[in-house]
Amino acid sequence: MSSINYSEKIPNNVNLSEDRVLQRALEQWQPNYLKWWDQMGPEGSQNMDVYLRTAISTTSDGWAQFGHIKMPDYRWGIFLAAPEANRKVNFGEAKGADAWQDVPGEFRSNLRRIIVTQGDTEPASVEQQRHLGLTCPSGYDLRNLFQVNVEEGRHLWAMVYLLQKYFGRDGREEAEALLQRNSGDQDKPRILEAFNEPTPDWLAFYMFTYFTDRDGKFQLNALAESAFDPLSRTCRFMLTEEAHHMFVGESGVARTIARTCEVMKQYGIEDPAQVRAKGVIDLPTLQRYLNFHFSVTIDLFGADQSSNAATFYSTGLKGRFEETKRTDDHVLKNDHYGILQISNGALIETQMPMLNSLNEVLRDDYIRDSVSGIGRWNRVIEKAGLSFRLLAPHKAFNRHIGSFSNTRISPDGRILSEAEWQANVRNWLPSEEDRAYVASLMGRVVEPGKFANWISPPPIGINRQPIDSEYVRFN
Ligand SMILES: [Fe+2]
Ligand SMILES: [Fe+2]
Repeated sequence: MSSINYSEKIPNNVNLSEDRVLQRALEQWQPNYLKWWDQMGPEGSQNMDVYLRTAISTTSDGWAQFGHIKMPDYRWGIFLAAPEANRKVNFGEAKGADAWQDVPGEFRSNLRRIIVTQGDTEPASVEQQRHLGLTCPSGYDLRNLFQVNVEEGRHLWAMVYLLQKYFGRDGREEAEALLQRNSGDQDKPRILEAFNEPTPDWLAFYMFTYFTDRDGKFQLNALAESAFDPLSRTCRFMLTEEAHHMFVGESGVARTIARTCEVMKQYGIEDPAQVRAKGVIDLPTLQRYLNFHFSVTIDLFGADQSSNAATFYSTGLKGRFEETKRTDDHVLKNDHYGILQISNGALIETQMPMLNSLNEVLRDDYIRDSVSGIGRWNRVIEKAGLSFRLLAPHKAFNRHIGSFSNTRISPDGRILSEAEWQANVRNWLPSEEDRAYVASLMGRVVEPGKFANWISPPPIGINRQPIDSEYVRFN
């Protein structure tokens, strides 16, 4: 069950050939997907052989397969984690019942909406990253970018499988629409705002994979708890891929910091202008990128008070992060949660009904997880003997969704007038000038073992290969 059949047109571990209707629907969607990949996927990658990992089974050792693959020949398919025997609904009003193998009619439209929203983010990030290959800092990084891209493409397949198998004609229409919306498109944008922002340079890419792919981790974990078992199994396998994306982000930022610190030490300089003169990214600019990606990403969790979040939970569609590890009653009807709100010009925590606060619960879990990586980045700076420290901004900073969206708040959590905000925003968010400076560093480096001046080499290669191995071959 867990091993993947690559002999079929669509590789899968779901016995696709036994469901002719579904197989036909997916085989009709496949050429449209490939056309989308060709037009919106990684620019200029058609003739490259890339050292990619491919899933051969969904067990923990199934990732062992690494090899050079011609990019357009990558085999996207449908992989679900193995079923769990006698799985039960673990939360909400149906807690204790058998998990569902089909979609209950009354939850159909909410479930479809959840799957479409998740599915929409996957191709969006491929679109956001499509030009980055042209300015890669090394062949190693180019390979990592493409690994992330092919897997986000596969995550789209994962959601399209669910839509086509369980949602009939509506599902087929949604599957087509997922290829028609495009990131940043004026008329048909992607559903969530963070997925319409450009990812213009590699620092933005690393910040995106650290912060925004981590949103994916939390959303997928919450959906992995779903009473709808096929969604749960799909998300559980996607999570094994997501871990690598966050690694690319965390290590990419750490290597950028390491190189900056090395140069600062070498020349005994701290002034950002002097640091820039040496062709590396000054630490205050890194902080501003961090502020931007952190704040845009926490908006993805939605409004702090949400009746949809309550409904999704109570009906068993979407759980909490690590639902089954929690020791409460998993129904939450009588529980409360502290929500930060603005009242009389101050930030005040108010107890609100837990069920309506589940977006905020997930956001706070996310914030704890992202802050731990910022601590690891600071250790790189500390080891270099420098006093600068990166900080997560206050969660009310630069928000566009929820109760802070109409108030200006500084990264340290002070409520500001519009004039104070305007006078300081250049210190807090990347300015045009910051972005132009970072863009000026982006040149293409692909010779094996060579790295752009602004970033350090990684400590080890992919799959224990040497750092100077030929991760991407050009034909
Ligand atoms: Fe993904
Ligand atoms: Fe991802």
